[in-house]
Amino acid sequence: MDDNSAKFVGAIPDFYDRGLGPVIFADFAAGMAQRVKALEPKLVVETAAGTGILSRALRDALPGRTKIIATDLNAPMIEVARRKFARGEPIVLQTADAVNLPFDDACCDLLVCQYGMMFFPDKEQSYRTAYRVLEDGGHYLVSVWDSHAFNGFAEIGHRIAGELFPDDPPQFMAVPFSCSAIDPIKAGLLEAGFSSVEISVNRIEKVVPDPELFARGMVLGNPLGDQIRARGGDVEAVIAATLAALHERFGTDPMVLSLQEIVFVARKGAVARV
Ligand SMILES: C[S@@+](CC[C@H](N)C(=O)[O-])C[C@H]1O[C@@H](n2cnc3c(N)ncnc32)[C@H](O)[C@@H]1O
Repeated sequence: MDDNSAKFVGAIPDFYDRGLGPVIFADFAAGMAQRVKALEPKLVVETAAGTGILSRALRDALPGRTKIIATDLNAPMIEVARRKFARGEPIVLQTADAVNLPFDDACCDLLVCQYGMMFFPDKEQSYRTAYRVLEDGGHYLVSVWDSHAFNGFAEIGHRIAGELFPDDPPQFMAVPFSCSAIDPIKAGLLEAGFSSVEISVNRIEKVVPDPELFARGMVLGNPLGDQIRARGGDVEAVIAATLAALHERFGTDPMVLSLQEIVFVARKGAVARV
């Protein structure tokens, strides 16, 4: 059983940011930044900010007077995020566990988390924490990946790594896609106290400009590479097999992936009495 699925450390942040970032994260981050902007927040806290892909989009989309605090569990991810901002740009970047945020009650009016929740060991506690740090009328925006069926690149990554180790398949590629069931998340948010939850399913077709870099990111840009190495596997062979399978399924020139996410917008406030 792998227990390193949340350890985005070592060389992972760089492979993540260059290999995966432009292909699977940047476009949905731009959409999330627009959702945040439309709510006109005064102070935004971002959790599981990773290498700052959404943080950068937020800073670009929001007026300078809107404060942003971007946090992540892993300092090496935050270090890559820091490089995206000029000295003096109005953003605070710091480590923090999203399940137990080190912030006061009602400290912000918007909390946002893009593709981090799947890694939280206690999701219900993370919803309660989100509710606690938001002021009345505030919003929690959280996005998750839809299942492998709607994100075929991940099904390929999971299958190829699993075929190499049939007795002990690496589990990483299942984790980011493990929260595609809408009902438990909706129920968890409402049980934490949120009064309403809006849900949308968003799909894009993404042209992959550098398939080799993307395949490398799929293996080395997350803890999958460490899980393969821990089993004595050859990561370069897995990258080559992943690239070949991606080409076979999604084309060569261009390679076009279907990507699908689910976004929850939860509001803290009194339930309307009518
Ligand atoms: C797939 S990345 C998403 C990063 C970023 N939001 C993005 O869209 O590019 C998942 C991130 O969750 C972070 N993470 C995992 N567990 C966490 C926790 N308990 N609290 C905060 N961040 C966590 C990891 O360090 C990693 O940066």
